[in-house]
Amino acid sequence: MMNVESVLSALVFCAAGTGLFFYFINRFVLTQRDYPIKAPLLLLAFALLYGGGLWWGWRVGFAPSFWGALVLLAVMMVSEGRRLSLRRRMAGTPPVWQENVAEHLRKPFTTTTLALRHYEIRLPAWRGPRLRIAHVTDFHVNGMLPDAHYRLVMERVQQAEPDLIFYTGDFLSDETSYAERLPVLLGAVRGKLGSFAVLGNHDYWSDPARVTAVLKQAGVQTLENGFQALEAGGARFMLWGCEDPWGPTRWSAPPPADGLVLALSHTGDNIYRLARAGAHAVFSGHYHAGQWRLPGVGPLLVPSRFGRRFDHGHFVVQGAHLFVSAGIGITRIPFRIYCRPDVLIVDIFPAS
Ligand SMILES: [Fe+2]
Repeated sequence: MMNVESVLSALVFCAAGTGLFFYFINRFVLTQRDYPIKAPLLLLAFALLYGGGLWWGWRVGFAPSFWGALVLLAVMMVSEGRRLSLRRRMAGTPPVWQENVAEHLRKPFTTTTLALRHYEIRLPAWRGPRLRIAHVTDFHVNGMLPDAHYRLVMERVQQAEPDLIFYTGDFLSDETSYAERLPVLLGAVRGKLGSFAVLGNHDYWSDPARVTAVLKQAGVQTLENGFQALEAGGARFMLWGCEDPWGPTRWSAPPPADGLVLALSHTGDNIYRLARAGAHAVFSGHYHAGQWRLPGVGPLLVPSRFGRRFDHGHFVVQGAHLFVSAGIGITRIPFRIYCRPDVLIVDIFPAS
């Protein structure tokens, strides 16, 4: 006969174990440098905590450890509530226009179904004409995706006629030999005022000097942890690069800039410091929007110390606009589930 006490205990331990994985172990391991057994280790930890929780809970029933698991579960539920509340408070405006974004339950594999999301923001710091930015990130050129996918991406970028193209890192997936493909894949598409990039963790784990050299050959200027002053319609603005925590040098805030400041940071985890330093808008990738998402649940794994807080989309954090793209490539696992690759087009207008 079914023992209610054992069932309840098994469910509580299982939920607490699963939460422990997503809130602590997954978050900690995913932000570490890649090593060969990282993925199997994560799977093993998940299996142990999920399955082990079920087994142990069934076995011990309402033993003292059950109440410990219940408290842990309550703490994680409060933490999830806080995450949802923060996201609601920091939610930016939805896209004014988007293309190919609807997920179909019967079509879970979305590896190359490119979405376009077009945002408009008004910033008091900007006094020039409309500034159009195309944000493309996480190419992960590694032979897993056909060249046609990258060509389509760059075609859509070109059609948008951007003033600036921002690439926010992970051009490669550790395999340096693919670096030579980059100029071919980027083609002749350029922003009217230039194309700019920062490198990502995978670029640093391959050959950053080579990636920088091939990007230069392709007409893309890398910012590293530096800055670049530009002008549009007589109005000056500043670009900042932030490659923390992977670059050889640590980022420090550039001198105070007069006017608009736009920052490129591979990870959105830098948003708070960039906002405090005076960035008006920050463009990031790195999270791949989870790469695997479940309808109604969202991403399962996000390599961020903020967990799923900034997984994807537009946020306003301490007055700074954060745009997080799902990226266009894939890494390790060769597919996306309910998670479309995307390109963001962001138009910046003066406040009045
Ligand atoms: Fe990436």
